[in-house]
Amino acid sequence: MRDLWYKDAVIYCLDVDRFQDFNGDGIGDFHGLKDRLTYISGLGFTCVWLLPFYPSPNRDNGYDVTDYYSVHPQLGTLGDFVEFINLARERGLRVIVDLVVNHTSRDHPWFQSARSDPGSPFRDFYVWSKTKPEDAHEGVIFPGVQDTIWTYDRKAGEYYLHRFYPHQPDLNVANPKVREEIERIMGFWLALGVSGFRVDAAPFVIELKGVEAENVRDPLEFLADFRAFLQWRRGDAILLAEANLPPAEMADYFAADKLQMGFNFILNQHLFLAFARQEAAPLIEGLLTPPPMPETSQWATFLRNHDELDLGRLSESQRQDAFAAFAPEPRMQLYGRGIRRRLAPMLDGNQRRLRMAYALMLSLPGTPVINYGEEIGMGDDLSLKERDAVRTPMQWSADDNAGFSTARPRHLISPVVSRGDFGYRDVNVSAQRKEPNSLLNWMERAIRVRKENREFGWGKVDIVETGDPAVFGHCLRYQDGTIIAVHNLADRAVRVKLDVSEYQGRRLVDLIDHSEREPVREQRHEIELDAYGFHWFRVS
Ligand code: GLC
Ligand code: CA
Repeated sequence: MRDLWYKDAVIYCLDVDRFQDFNGDGIGDFHGLKDRLTYISGLGFTCVWLLPFYPSPNRDNGYDVTDYYSVHPQLGTLGDFVEFINLARERGLRVIVDLVVNHTSRDHPWFQSARSDPGSPFRDFYVWSKTKPEDAHEGVIFPGVQDTIWTYDRKAGEYYLHRFYPHQPDLNVANPKVREEIERIMGFWLALGVSGFRVDAAPFVIELKGVEAENVRDPLEFLADFRAFLQWRRGDAILLAEANLPPAEMADYFAADKLQMGFNFILNQHLFLAFARQEAAPLIEGLLTPPPMPETSQWATFLRNHDELDLGRLSESQRQDAFAAFAPEPRMQLYGRGIRRRLAPMLDGNQRRLRMAYALMLSLPGTPVINYGEEIGMGDDLSLKERDAVRTPMQWSADDNAGFSTARPRHLISPVVSRGDFGYRDVNVSAQRKEPNSLLNWMERAIRVRKENREFGWGKVDIVETGDPAVFGHCLRYQDGTIIAVHNLADRAVRVKLDVSEYQGRRLVDLIDHSEREPVREQRHEIELDAYGFHWFRVS
């Protein structure tokens, strides 16, 4: 159990078409990404997660696939993909890719065949209903822009199920042919060298809504089947589930060899509540609420991703506190439950606070996942629709189009952020590389320290009493090692007394500046923290 790579991983998430355009058509591509792999590995990341890069009409940023066995022609060819995988391996980077099999695009040939002919072999790939189900308006994922989950298809003469947008008909997982196809897709990309998959919308992939299948077993068993298939093909490959579920339900996803990893949405939402209230209590709750998982499983910890910051699992008053702190204007909010901003603008570009937030994320149990551009504190563009606000091109330099592309600005896949405090002339990789104290250089150092200390990825976590409601203390123990971390969530300097009675006579070594402190003599060890200050200590 000592070499589960995903427990030691630090994951970088990116969207190929927003990252680096090589051929100057305004759209990022695999060739451009290849040229940037040393940047990613140089920061210390060990794994890249690619958002969907498959052929797609891009009505949902590629989460609407028309061909699972190919690369979107604007991004490159399968040949380019293999070159990319090979170079990534050379740079010590594993690659995981999005597996988007809850639904296809309505343009997918399967759906086109299914709707055209009731006798089509693909009819049963989707979920149909002759009449509109009564609860068609319940359980929509994008309230405000989506009003039903069943839409009438004139050609088919029936309604089809779509959990997400109407252009994304749900696949029927109860159909064994669909499950075979899902395995074939996994097998294909595994053969091309990927180390696993982010399972998009996992709870919906296995839901049996609208499906008349009397003889289907517990749908969670489908996950176990997928996992078994995956590991026959490639022993160290993983499934990382996107499953934003109540804590109790999450446990089933990890139990009995189902998924290796899942995003910790509960912790994520409580983290932001803790930031908003400047109190450790919500964070402690968020940390202790998720169910324990088998030793071979692992949470993926994150602050922001390519979607809205979903606060749907907080109570109404908690959510309102988070909105008040980080999204006071309605245009910053989305779907009634989320925030469509990047982290740096949410924290008003406060560098100390940003570092504290990332330090906390990097030190919490789990594997950190960082979305491209977070490492330089990129901003967002609220004039773009829905979640596109946080999907602007990577800001490489102060050159035209932020160095992302040489195309004319109007040909870019998305405008670059050019105005305001987060415009590319001020916030870019090139400038931050030259500045020793930049967020980028700090991030590289923080990632290095995290990787040097395996307690972070493997340790068992406990809360350390700090005596101050704004200061969060935790410790991580793994084998003989112990790390103690303290983070001040408040915008004022504090002096706290850590409860380190267990460690009498031992020294705390600061992992970031390597200074040694006086040996612990008192029951409670006094520590000073600046506003938003933090320390990571090894108990030596
Ligand atoms: C996931 C993705 C999101 C997408 C949705 C539908 O939630 O993260 O971007 O819109 O699935 O595929
Ligand atoms: Ca291009």
